[in-house]
Amino acid sequence: MKPSKKTSLIAIVAILLAASAWWQFGPRYPAKWTDLDLMVLQRLSLDSLPDLEPDPTNAVADDPRAREFGHKLFFDMRLSANGSVSCATCHQPDRRFTDGFPKGRGIGLSGRNTRSIVGTAYSPWLYWDGRKDSQWAQALSPLEDPAEHGGNRMSYARFISTDPEYRLLYEDLFGELPDFSDTSRFPETAAPLDDAGANAAWQAMSDEDRLAVNRVFSNIGKAIAAYERLIMPGPSRFDTYVRDLLNGNSESPGSALTDEEILGLQLFIDKARCTECHNGPLLTNNEFHNTGILSFPGDVPDRGRIDGLKKVLADPFNCLGQFSDDPEKRCAELNYVRTGIELIGATRTPSLRNLGGTAPYSHKGQNETIAALLDLYNRAPLAMIGHNEAEEKLNLSRRELKQLEAFLNALDAPLATAEKWLRVPLAN
Ligand code: HEC
Ligand code: HEC
Repeated sequence: MKPSKKTSLIAIVAILLAASAWWQFGPRYPAKWTDLDLMVLQRLSLDSLPDLEPDPTNAVADDPRAREFGHKLFFDMRLSANGSVSCATCHQPDRRFTDGFPKGRGIGLSGRNTRSIVGTAYSPWLYWDGRKDSQWAQALSPLEDPAEHGGNRMSYARFISTDPEYRLLYEDLFGELPDFSDTSRFPETAAPLDDAGANAAWQAMSDEDRLAVNRVFSNIGKAIAAYERLIMPGPSRFDTYVRDLLNGNSESPGSALTDEEILGLQLFIDKARCTECHNGPLLTNNEFHNTGILSFPGDVPDRGRIDGLKKVLADPFNCLGQFSDDPEKRCAELNYVRTGIELIGATRTPSLRNLGGTAPYSHKGQNETIAALLDLYNRAPLAMIGHNEAEEKLNLSRRELKQLEAFLNALDAPLATAEKWLRVPLAN
Protein backbone atom coordinates (compact mmCIF):
# COMPACT_ATOMS: atom_id res chain seq x y z
CA MET A 1 0.00 0.00 0.00
CA LYS A 2 1.27 3.45 -0.92
CA PRO A 3 1.56 5.73 2.11
CA SER A 4 -0.73 8.70 1.87
CA LYS A 5 0.66 12.22 1.74
CA LYS A 6 -0.62 12.67 5.28
CA THR A 7 1.24 9.68 6.75
CA SER A 8 4.53 10.66 5.10
CA LEU A 9 4.14 14.17 6.49
CA ILE A 10 3.57 12.75 9.97
CA ALA A 11 6.65 10.54 9.54
CA ILE A 12 8.79 13.50 8.54
CA VAL A 13 7.57 15.58 11.48
CA ALA A 14 8.25 12.65 13.83
CA ILE A 15 11.79 12.28 12.50
CA LEU A 16 12.43 16.00 12.89
CA LEU A 17 11.11 15.97 16.45
CA ALA A 18 13.27 12.99 17.34
CA ALA A 19 16.33 14.66 15.82
CA SER A 20 15.77 17.88 17.72
CA ALA A 21 15.19 15.94 20.96
CA TRP A 22 18.45 14.09 20.41
CA TRP A 23 20.21 17.39 19.75
CA GLN A 24 18.89 18.83 22.99
CA PHE A 25 18.87 15.88 25.32
CA GLY A 26 21.03 13.06 24.16
CA PRO A 27 23.45 11.59 24.89
CA ARG A 28 22.95 12.88 28.39
CA TYR A 29 26.29 12.26 29.86
CA PRO A 30 29.73 11.54 28.44
CA ALA A 31 31.40 8.23 28.99
CA LYS A 32 32.98 7.77 32.38
CA TRP A 33 36.37 9.42 32.76
CA THR A 34 39.17 6.90 32.87
CA ASP A 35 42.00 7.17 35.38
CA LEU A 36 44.18 8.46 32.57
CA ASP A 37 41.60 11.14 31.71
CA LEU A 38 41.52 12.22 35.35
CA MET A 39 45.27 12.61 35.32
CA VAL A 40 45.04 14.73 32.19
CA LEU A 41 42.30 16.88 33.72
CA GLN A 42 44.28 17.37 36.89
CA ARG A 43 47.25 18.62 34.89
CA LEU A 44 45.05 21.16 33.11
CA SER A 45 43.61 22.47 36.35
CA LEU A 46 44.77 25.76 37.81
CA ASP A 47 45.34 23.94 41.09
CA SER A 48 48.37 22.36 39.37
CA LEU A 49 49.97 25.72 38.63
CA PRO A 50 53.24 25.77 40.58
CA ASP A 51 54.23 28.84 42.59
CA LEU A 52 55.93 31.41 40.43
CA GLU A 53 59.68 30.91 40.56
CA PRO A 54 61.95 33.88 41.17
CA ASP A 55 63.38 35.50 38.03
CA PRO A 56 67.16 35.51 38.56
CA THR A 57 67.60 37.95 35.66
CA ASN A 58 65.52 40.59 37.47
CA ALA A 59 66.69 41.45 41.00
CA VAL A 60 63.55 43.49 41.74
CA ALA A 61 61.03 41.04 40.24
CA ASP A 62 59.32 40.39 43.57
CA ASP A 63 60.11 43.63 45.35
CA PRO A 64 56.89 45.34 46.53
CA ARG A 65 58.38 48.77 45.79
CA ALA A 66 59.08 47.73 42.21
CA ARG A 67 55.46 46.59 41.81
CA GLU A 68 54.20 50.01 42.85
CA PHE A 69 56.68 51.74 40.54
CA GLY A 70 55.87 49.40 37.66
CA HIS A 71 52.14 49.90 38.19
CA LYS A 72 52.60 53.65 37.71
CA LEU A 73 54.82 53.21 34.65
CA PHE A 74 52.38 50.78 33.05
CA PHE A 75 49.57 53.35 33.09
CA ASP A 76 51.68 56.45 32.43
CA MET A 77 51.01 58.11 29.06
CA ARG A 78 53.93 60.47 29.52
CA LEU A 79 56.09 57.51 28.50
CA SER A 80 55.29 58.06 24.83
CA ALA A 81 56.24 60.38 22.01
CA ASN A 82 52.84 62.09 21.88
CA GLY A 83 51.86 61.82 25.55
CA SER A 84 48.78 59.73 24.83
CA VAL A 85 49.93 56.11 24.82
CA SER A 86 50.63 53.87 27.81
CA CYS A 87 50.97 50.10 28.08
CA ALA A 88 47.35 50.11 29.27
CA THR A 89 46.21 51.71 25.99
CA CYS A 90 46.59 48.30 24.37
CA HIS A 91 46.64 46.10 27.46
CA GLN A 92 43.37 47.09 29.13
CA PRO A 93 42.68 45.34 32.44
CA ASP A 94 38.96 44.97 31.72
CA ARG A 95 39.71 43.18 28.46
CA ARG A 96 42.09 40.74 30.10
CA PHE A 97 44.91 43.07 29.12
CA THR A 98 44.12 43.18 25.40
CA ASP A 99 42.43 45.89 23.28
CA GLY A 100 39.68 44.41 21.13
CA PHE A 101 41.37 45.35 17.84
CA PRO A 102 42.76 42.97 15.19
CA LYS A 103 46.12 44.78 15.56
CA GLY A 104 47.33 47.00 18.40
CA ARG A 105 46.76 50.75 17.98
CA GLY A 106 49.23 53.17 19.53
CA ILE A 107 50.85 56.06 17.75
CA GLY A 108 50.45 53.92 14.64
CA LEU A 109 49.27 50.42 13.87
CA SER A 110 51.19 47.47 15.43
CA GLY A 111 52.16 44.57 13.23
CA ARG A 112 50.20 41.96 15.17
CA ASN A 113 47.28 41.25 17.49
CA THR A 114 47.78 42.39 21.09
CA ARG A 115 48.50 39.39 23.29
CA SER A 116 47.21 39.20 26.83
CA ILE A 117 49.66 39.74 29.67
CA VAL A 118 47.77 37.43 32.02
CA GLY A 119 50.01 34.64 33.33
CA THR A 120 52.95 35.61 31.08
CA ALA A 121 55.28 35.58 34.10
CA TYR A 122 55.29 31.81 33.56
CA SER A 123 56.32 32.06 29.95
CA PRO A 124 59.93 31.52 28.89
CA TRP A 125 59.24 33.50 25.69
CA LEU A 126 57.27 36.62 24.97
CA TYR A 127 55.48 37.79 21.81
CA TRP A 128 53.88 35.66 19.09
CA ASP A 129 57.35 34.94 17.70
CA GLY A 130 59.15 34.73 21.07
CA ARG A 131 61.63 37.46 20.19
CA LYS A 132 62.05 38.30 23.89
CA ASP A 133 62.97 35.96 26.72
CA SER A 134 61.80 37.86 29.80
CA GLN A 135 59.01 40.21 30.77
CA TRP A 136 61.46 42.98 31.56
CA ALA A 137 63.29 42.73 28.24
CA GLN A 138 59.92 42.62 26.45
CA ALA A 139 58.68 45.80 28.15
CA LEU A 140 61.46 47.82 26.48
CA SER A 141 60.29 47.12 22.92
CA PRO A 142 56.89 48.86 22.90
CA LEU A 143 58.45 51.96 24.46
CA GLU A 144 60.61 52.43 21.36
CA ASP A 145 58.33 50.94 18.74
CA PRO A 146 57.31 53.80 16.40
CA ALA A 147 53.80 52.31 16.12
CA GLU A 148 53.35 51.95 19.89
CA HIS A 149 54.87 54.44 22.39
CA GLY A 150 57.25 55.85 19.76
CA GLY A 151 59.85 57.17 22.24
CA ASN A 152 63.56 56.61 22.71
CA ARG A 153 65.58 55.33 25.64
CA MET A 154 67.51 58.55 26.14
CA SER A 155 64.38 60.59 26.67
CA TYR A 156 62.90 57.94 28.99
CA ALA A 157 66.06 57.88 31.11
CA ARG A 158 66.00 61.67 31.31
CA PHE A 159 62.28 61.67 32.18
CA ILE A 160 62.83 59.30 35.11
CA SER A 161 65.72 61.40 36.35
CA THR A 162 63.83 64.70 36.15
CA ASP A 163 60.39 63.67 37.42
CA PRO A 164 60.63 64.13 41.22
CA GLU A 165 58.34 61.21 42.12
CA TYR A 166 59.93 58.73 39.71
CA ARG A 167 63.40 59.83 40.68
CA LEU A 168 62.71 58.90 44.30
CA LEU A 169 61.10 55.58 43.44
CA TYR A 170 63.90 54.69 41.04
CA GLU A 171 66.78 55.58 43.36
CA ASP A 172 65.19 53.74 46.26
CA LEU A 173 65.25 50.56 44.16
CA PHE A 174 68.26 50.84 41.90
CA GLY A 175 70.58 53.40 43.49
CA GLU A 176 71.69 56.80 42.32
CA LEU A 177 70.68 57.98 38.85
CA PRO A 178 73.40 59.33 36.55
CA ASP A 179 73.37 63.04 35.78
CA PHE A 180 71.90 63.35 32.29
CA SER A 181 71.80 67.15 32.21
CA ASP A 182 74.80 67.71 29.89
CA THR A 183 73.10 67.61 26.47
CA SER A 184 76.44 67.49 24.63
CA ARG A 185 76.91 64.04 26.19
CA PHE A 186 73.26 63.07 26.52
CA PRO A 187 71.27 64.49 23.57
CA GLU A 188 67.48 64.98 23.69
CA THR A 189 66.80 62.00 21.45
CA ALA A 190 69.13 59.01 21.11
CA ALA A 191 68.59 55.29 20.62
CA PRO A 192 69.74 52.51 18.27
CA LEU A 193 66.58 52.78 16.15
CA ASP A 194 65.74 52.88 12.46
CA ASP A 195 65.21 56.61 12.85
CA ALA A 196 68.44 58.02 11.35
CA GLY A 197 68.64 61.07 13.64
CA ALA A 198 68.16 59.13 16.87
CA ASN A 199 70.57 56.48 15.70
CA ALA A 200 73.33 58.94 14.72
CA ALA A 201 73.02 60.68 18.09
CA TRP A 202 73.26 57.31 19.85
CA GLN A 203 76.33 56.25 17.89
CA ALA A 204 78.02 59.57 18.72
CA MET A 205 77.76 58.91 22.49
CA SER A 206 80.60 57.30 24.43
CA ASP A 207 80.32 53.61 25.34
CA GLU A 208 80.14 54.52 28.98
CA ASP A 209 77.29 56.99 28.52
CA ARG A 210 75.35 54.54 26.37
CA LEU A 211 75.78 51.94 29.10
CA ALA A 212 74.45 54.38 31.71
CA VAL A 213 71.34 55.02 29.59
CA ASN A 214 70.80 51.34 28.84
CA ARG A 215 71.06 50.56 32.53
CA VAL A 216 68.26 52.99 33.41
CA PHE A 217 66.22 51.80 30.43
CA SER A 218 66.52 48.14 31.46
CA ASN A 219 65.57 49.04 35.04
CA ILE A 220 62.36 50.65 33.76
CA GLY A 221 61.56 47.28 32.19
CA LYS A 222 62.38 45.46 35.43
CA ALA A 223 59.96 47.59 37.45
CA ILE A 224 57.19 47.07 34.86
CA ALA A 225 57.84 43.32 34.96
CA ALA A 226 57.49 43.30 38.76
CA TYR A 227 53.99 44.71 38.26
CA GLU A 228 53.14 42.31 35.44
CA ARG A 229 54.05 39.32 37.61
CA LEU A 230 50.89 40.07 39.62
CA ILE A 231 48.57 39.64 36.64
CA MET A 232 47.31 36.09 36.98
CA PRO A 233 44.29 34.08 35.83
CA GLY A 234 41.64 33.13 38.37
CA PRO A 235 39.93 29.74 38.83
CA SER A 236 37.23 29.02 36.25
CA ARG A 237 34.21 26.72 36.33
CA PHE A 238 36.42 24.11 34.67
CA ASP A 239 38.79 24.21 37.65
CA THR A 240 35.89 23.81 40.08
CA TYR A 241 34.66 20.86 38.04
CA VAL A 242 38.04 19.13 38.20
CA ARG A 243 38.36 19.79 41.90
CA ASP A 244 34.90 18.30 42.53
CA LEU A 245 35.74 15.34 40.36
CA LEU A 246 39.01 14.57 42.10
CA ASN A 247 37.66 15.06 45.58
CA GLY A 248 34.56 13.02 45.07
CA ASN A 249 33.08 10.25 43.05
CA SER A 250 33.97 10.44 39.37
CA GLU A 251 30.59 8.96 38.42
CA SER A 252 28.65 11.89 39.82
CA PRO A 253 30.79 14.95 39.27
CA GLY A 254 29.87 18.41 40.44
CA SER A 255 27.54 20.62 38.49
CA ALA A 256 30.17 23.22 37.68
CA LEU A 257 30.01 22.37 33.96
CA THR A 258 26.97 21.73 31.79
CA ASP A 259 26.68 18.48 29.85
CA GLU A 260 27.55 20.29 26.64
CA GLU A 261 30.69 21.71 28.21
CA ILE A 262 31.70 18.31 29.55
CA LEU A 263 31.29 16.82 26.09
CA GLY A 264 33.40 19.70 24.76
CA LEU A 265 36.06 18.97 27.35
CA GLN A 266 36.11 15.36 26.28
CA LEU A 267 36.65 16.39 22.68
CA PHE A 268 39.33 18.85 23.77
CA ILE A 269 41.50 16.20 25.42
CA ASP A 270 40.68 13.39 23.01
CA LYS A 271 39.29 13.48 19.49
CA ALA A 272 40.16 17.13 18.74
CA ARG A 273 43.74 16.70 20.03
CA CYS A 274 43.88 20.23 21.42
CA THR A 275 46.02 19.19 24.39
CA GLU A 276 48.89 18.34 22.06
CA CYS A 277 49.72 22.04 22.32
CA HIS A 278 47.24 23.60 24.76
CA ASN A 279 48.33 21.72 27.87
CA GLY A 280 49.37 22.45 31.45
CA PRO A 281 47.38 24.66 33.83
CA LEU A 282 47.66 27.68 31.52
CA LEU A 283 46.55 25.62 28.51
CA THR A 284 49.75 26.35 26.63
CA ASN A 285 52.98 24.40 26.13
CA ASN A 286 54.73 27.75 25.49
CA GLU A 287 56.16 26.26 22.32
CA PHE A 288 56.01 27.42 18.72
CA HIS A 289 53.74 25.76 16.18
CA ASN A 290 52.45 26.40 12.70
CA THR A 291 48.68 25.90 12.76
CA GLY A 292 47.95 27.13 9.24
CA ILE A 293 46.26 30.36 10.34
CA LEU A 294 45.37 32.12 7.09
CA SER A 295 46.65 35.63 6.46
CA PHE A 296 44.31 38.45 5.58
CA PRO A 297 44.05 38.73 1.80
CA GLY A 298 46.98 40.80 0.57
CA ASP A 299 48.95 40.41 3.83
CA VAL A 300 52.37 38.77 3.63
CA PRO A 301 52.22 35.55 5.70
CA ASP A 302 53.94 35.94 9.08
CA ARG A 303 57.31 34.15 9.30
CA GLY A 304 56.84 33.82 13.06
CA ARG A 305 59.41 32.03 15.18
CA ILE A 306 62.05 31.57 12.49
CA ASP A 307 62.65 35.36 12.63
CA GLY A 308 61.85 35.70 16.35
CA LEU A 309 64.61 33.22 17.15
CA LYS A 310 67.27 35.33 15.40
CA LYS A 311 66.03 38.41 17.21
CA VAL A 312 66.08 36.93 20.71
CA LEU A 313 69.58 35.54 20.21
CA ALA A 314 70.81 38.99 19.09
CA ASP A 315 68.95 40.95 21.79
CA PRO A 316 71.38 42.84 24.10
CA PHE A 317 68.72 42.61 26.84
CA ASN A 318 68.41 38.82 26.71
CA CYS A 319 69.22 36.43 29.55
CA LEU A 320 72.86 36.14 28.49
CA GLY A 321 73.40 39.89 28.14
CA GLN A 322 75.08 42.28 30.55
CA PHE A 323 71.78 43.71 31.84
CA SER A 324 70.63 40.39 33.25
CA ASP A 325 71.04 40.29 37.04
CA ASP A 326 71.88 36.59 37.10
CA PRO A 327 75.64 36.40 37.74
CA GLU A 328 75.73 32.76 36.67
CA LYS A 329 73.83 33.39 33.43
CA ARG A 330 71.90 30.15 33.75
CA CYS A 331 69.93 30.56 30.55
CA ALA A 332 68.76 27.07 29.77
CA GLU A 333 65.92 28.27 27.51
CA LEU A 334 68.27 30.32 25.38
CA ASN A 335 71.18 27.89 25.45
CA TYR A 336 69.08 24.91 24.41
CA VAL A 337 66.63 26.74 22.19
CA ARG A 338 64.81 24.71 19.54
CA THR A 339 65.77 25.48 15.94
CA GLY A 340 64.71 24.03 12.58
CA ILE A 341 62.69 24.81 9.49
CA GLU A 342 59.45 23.77 11.18
CA LEU A 343 59.68 27.16 12.91
CA ILE A 344 58.75 28.92 9.65
CA GLY A 345 55.34 30.43 10.25
CA ALA A 346 55.21 29.03 13.79
CA THR A 347 53.81 31.18 16.60
CA ARG A 348 53.69 30.71 20.35
CA THR A 349 50.73 28.72 21.62
CA PRO A 350 48.49 31.18 23.48
CA SER A 351 46.90 30.39 26.83
CA LEU A 352 43.20 29.55 26.51
CA ARG A 353 42.38 31.09 29.88
CA ASN A 354 41.91 34.55 28.40
CA LEU A 355 39.36 34.04 25.65
CA GLY A 356 36.59 36.10 27.27
CA GLY A 357 36.83 39.66 26.04
CA THR A 358 40.02 39.10 24.06
CA ALA A 359 38.51 38.75 20.58
CA PRO A 360 39.54 39.01 17.83
CA TYR A 361 41.87 36.00 17.97
CA SER A 362 45.03 34.83 16.15
CA HIS A 363 48.31 36.59 15.54
CA LYS A 364 46.89 39.28 13.29
CA GLY A 365 43.37 39.17 14.65
CA GLN A 366 42.24 37.14 11.63
CA ASN A 367 39.50 35.28 13.53
CA GLU A 368 36.72 37.39 14.95
CA THR A 369 35.16 34.55 16.90
CA ILE A 370 36.19 31.29 18.53
CA ALA A 371 33.76 29.53 16.18
CA ALA A 372 35.63 30.85 13.12
CA LEU A 373 38.90 29.58 14.53
CA LEU A 374 37.49 26.16 15.38
CA ASP A 375 36.13 25.89 11.86
CA LEU A 376 39.66 26.49 10.62
CA TYR A 377 41.11 23.75 12.85
CA ASN A 378 38.37 21.47 11.59
CA ARG A 379 39.19 22.12 7.93
CA ALA A 380 42.97 22.08 8.47
CA PRO A 381 43.96 24.17 5.45
CA LEU A 382 47.40 24.07 3.86
CA ALA A 383 49.66 26.62 5.52
CA MET A 384 50.37 29.73 3.43
CA ILE A 385 53.94 29.59 4.70
CA GLY A 386 55.79 26.62 6.17
CA HIS A 387 53.91 23.49 7.13
CA ASN A 388 50.64 23.22 9.09
CA GLU A 389 51.30 20.90 12.06
CA ALA A 390 47.57 20.53 12.69
CA GLU A 391 47.05 19.41 9.09
CA GLU A 392 44.84 16.41 9.83
CA LYS A 393 41.19 17.30 9.39
CA LEU A 394 39.31 16.85 12.68
CA ASN A 395 35.99 16.01 11.03
CA LEU A 396 34.01 17.35 13.95
CA SER A 397 30.28 17.76 13.45
CA ARG A 398 28.61 21.14 13.89
CA ARG A 399 27.33 19.97 17.22
CA GLU A 400 30.76 18.90 18.39
CA LEU A 401 32.20 22.28 17.36
CA LYS A 402 29.54 23.94 19.51
CA GLN A 403 30.45 21.71 22.45
CA LEU A 404 34.13 22.52 22.08
CA GLU A 405 33.32 26.22 22.00
CA ALA A 406 31.12 25.88 25.08
CA PHE A 407 34.00 24.24 26.92
CA LEU A 408 36.46 26.98 25.89
CA ASN A 409 34.05 29.58 27.27
CA ALA A 410 33.94 27.69 30.58
CA LEU A 411 37.66 28.41 31.00
CA ASP A 412 36.89 32.08 31.31
CA ALA A 413 37.10 33.59 34.79
CA PRO A 414 37.84 36.87 36.55
CA LEU A 415 41.54 37.44 37.21
CA ALA A 416 43.12 36.36 40.49
CA THR A 417 44.79 39.76 40.76
CA ALA A 418 43.75 42.20 43.51
CA GLU A 419 41.48 44.98 42.20
CA LYS A 420 43.99 47.69 43.08
CA TRP A 421 46.39 46.54 40.37
CA LEU A 422 43.69 46.57 37.72
CA ARG A 423 43.02 50.28 38.09
CA VAL A 424 44.94 53.40 37.23
CA PRO A 425 47.27 53.88 40.22
CA LEU A 426 46.42 56.66 42.64
CA ALA A 427 48.57 59.76 42.31
CA ASN A 428 50.83 60.43 45.28
C1 HEC B 1 50.05 49.94 20.52
C2 HEC B 1 49.62 48.84 21.34
C3 HEC B 1 50.57 48.33 22.39
C4 HEC B 1 51.19 49.03 23.41
C5 HEC B 1 51.14 50.52 23.67
C6 HEC B 1 51.89 48.05 24.20
N1 HEC B 1 51.69 46.80 23.69
FE1 HEC B 1 52.29 45.06 24.49
N2 HEC B 1 51.69 44.09 22.85
C7 HEC B 1 51.07 44.65 21.77
C8 HEC B 1 51.06 43.74 20.65
C9 HEC B 1 50.49 44.03 19.28
C10 HEC B 1 51.70 42.57 21.11
C11 HEC B 1 52.02 41.33 20.28
C12 HEC B 1 53.13 41.73 19.33
C13 HEC B 1 53.92 40.57 18.75
O1 HEC B 1 53.84 39.47 19.28
O2 HEC B 1 54.63 40.79 17.78
C14 HEC B 1 52.07 42.82 22.50
C15 HEC B 1 52.67 41.89 23.33
C16 HEC B 1 52.99 42.14 24.65
C17 HEC B 1 53.44 41.13 25.59
C18 HEC B 1 53.68 39.68 25.28
C19 HEC B 1 52.57 38.77 25.75
C20 HEC B 1 52.80 37.36 25.30
O3 HEC B 1 52.09 36.46 25.72
O4 HEC B 1 53.71 37.13 24.48
C21 HEC B 1 53.64 41.75 26.79
C22 HEC B 1 54.11 41.11 28.09
C23 HEC B 1 53.36 43.15 26.59
N3 HEC B 1 52.94 43.35 25.28
C24 HEC B 1 53.55 44.14 27.52
C25 HEC B 1 53.53 45.50 27.21
C26 HEC B 1 54.05 46.54 28.07
C27 HEC B 1 54.73 46.31 29.40
C28 HEC B 1 53.82 47.72 27.43
C29 HEC B 1 54.22 49.11 27.87
C30 HEC B 1 55.65 49.33 28.08
C31 HEC B 1 53.13 47.41 26.19
N4 HEC B 1 53.01 46.05 26.08
C32 HEC B 1 52.67 48.36 25.30
C33 HEC B 1 50.53 45.92 21.73
C34 HEC B 1 50.92 46.94 22.57
C1 HEC C 1 49.95 22.05 16.89
C2 HEC C 1 49.64 22.81 18.09
C3 HEC C 1 48.21 23.20 18.33
C4 HEC C 1 47.08 22.41 18.36
C5 HEC C 1 47.00 20.92 18.11
C6 HEC C 1 45.98 23.29 18.68
N1 HEC C 1 46.42 24.57 18.85
FE1 HEC C 1 45.26 26.17 19.24
N2 HEC C 1 46.83 27.38 18.89
C7 HEC C 1 48.12 26.98 18.64
C8 HEC C 1 48.90 28.12 18.21
C9 HEC C 1 50.37 28.09 17.84
C10 HEC C 1 48.04 29.22 18.19
C11 HEC C 1 48.36 30.62 17.71
C12 HEC C 1 48.16 30.63 16.19
C13 HEC C 1 48.32 32.02 15.57
O1 HEC C 1 47.40 32.82 15.62
O2 HEC C 1 49.39 32.27 15.03
C14 HEC C 1 46.75 28.72 18.64
C15 HEC C 1 45.62 29.52 18.81
C16 HEC C 1 44.43 29.09 19.38
C17 HEC C 1 43.35 29.95 19.79
C18 HEC C 1 43.32 31.47 19.69
C19 HEC C 1 43.79 32.10 20.95
C20 HEC C 1 44.06 33.58 20.83
O3 HEC C 1 44.12 34.22 21.88
O4 HEC C 1 44.26 34.09 19.71
C21 HEC C 1 42.36 29.13 20.27
C22 HEC C 1 41.00 29.55 20.80
C23 HEC C 1 42.82 27.77 20.12
N3 HEC C 1 44.09 27.80 19.60
C24 HEC C 1 42.10 26.64 20.47
C25 HEC C 1 42.48 25.35 20.09
C26 HEC C 1 41.61 24.22 20.14
C27 HEC C 1 40.19 24.23 20.65
C28 HEC C 1 42.31 23.15 19.65
C29 HEC C 1 41.82 21.74 19.36
C30 HEC C 1 40.82 21.70 18.33
C31 HEC C 1 43.64 23.64 19.31
N4 HEC C 1 43.69 24.98 19.59
C32 HEC C 1 44.66 22.86 18.80
C33 HEC C 1 48.58 25.68 18.72
C34 HEC C 1 47.77 24.57 18.64
